[in-house]
Amino acid sequence: MRKYMQTGYGAMRGNVEILDVPNPTPWDYEMAVEVHAAALNPIDFKIIHGALKPVIKEKLPTPMGFDGSGVVSAIGDRVTQFKVGDAVFFRADIRNRGSFAQICCVGADLATLKPEIMSHADAASLPLVALTTLQGLVDRAGAKAGQSILVHAGAGGVGSFAVQFAKAIGMEVTAIISSKNADMMRELGADFVIERDKEDYLGRPTRYDIVYDTIGGDATLDAFKVLKAGGAVVSIAGPPTEEMANQLGLSWIMRQIMKFMSRKVFAEAKRTGTRYFGYFTQSDGAQLAQIAQMVVDGKIHAVIDREYPFEQLVEALEYLETGHAKGKVVLKMK
Ligand SMILES: NC(=O)c1ccc[n+]([C@@H]2O[C@H](COP(=O)([O-])OP(=O)(O)OC[C@H]3O[C@@H](n4cnc5c(N)ncnc54)[C@H](OP(=O)(O)O)[C@@H]3O)[C@@H](O)[C@H]2O)c1
Repeated sequence: MRKYMQTGYGAMRGNVEILDVPNPTPWDYEMAVEVHAAALNPIDFKIIHGALKPVIKEKLPTPMGFDGSGVVSAIGDRVTQFKVGDAVFFRADIRNRGSFAQICCVGADLATLKPEIMSHADAASLPLVALTTLQGLVDRAGAKAGQSILVHAGAGGVGSFAVQFAKAIGMEVTAIISSKNADMMRELGADFVIERDKEDYLGRPTRYDIVYDTIGGDATLDAFKVLKAGGAVVSIAGPPTEEMANQLGLSWIMRQIMKFMSRKVFAEAKRTGTRYFGYFTQSDGAQLAQIAQMVVDGKIHAVIDREYPFEQLVEALEYLETGHAKGKVVLKMK
């Protein structure tokens, strides 16, 4: 079978190769999935550029890709919840990636059944952005019906899911986008749209229960300026935090370094009587089942910007890296 491998760090071209390798055999709690579609995320090109090198030691060449959807072709001895022939979708573990391949072995607890109404491309496009949003907004910030949320980059991979998800759980949603994406935001259900090329959102008097910071930079500290007392900043692009170090099981010294790097945001949260969450997404098949049900119930749909054939992963990553995707970028194996 053919599988993408990262062979070095740096530019994408020259460090990403398709290799012919034997079909993998799943371990006890894993299953082999014949991948029909995989989705790209910024973390994929960040890893190639070496962003995780200080925190995760990997032997090169290393497999690539988190999100995938396909059909189970083999199961480990201890897998009871799936059988060969099931259509499933999943988000692979950060230390055991590999969805950019014709076959990917994934822990059975990280997958869920793909509803028939979803194509493999649609299913592949959801896991990482959906888990990130659910784990940030609900599990950490306690998002609930009646609250208000400001979503940065509402048209991006995470944003286009988050706008729909927040609306589906009964929140009042304001999305920041550039004006070319305004119609898309209304179609996804945003109550209010701020066109960042026409208006500075900090000039509005509105205060939010939650700010979902998907862009980092100035937006992370600025989020506190538009929060209600007791509100929460959920940031997936802010500075590294102690929680992230704990999630990766890093050493005491790395925990202290990451704590130091995020000292300003936590000081600002303390000063303003608000909360701040910076975390890594965890793979979780049970949460993906909740998302699948929301799709079946018509509350959420996949938003796909572009699909690329299997052979064009580098081109697909280069497009995603422009930072202007409208929804998700998908790699098609079948
Ligand atoms: N911590 C975690 O576990 C975690 C999980 C998921 C994602 N992330 C991170 O979250 C970020 C967003 O991910 P994504 O998948 O949504 O990326 P994406 O799909 O590439 O985001 C593209 C969107 O970002 C907008 N954008 C780009 N630059 C902007 C700026 N300066 N100000 C406002 N909007 C801007 C673009 O809008 P325009 O076209 O209008 O410019 C576009 O709609 C990435 O950095 C990713 O690595 C972290």
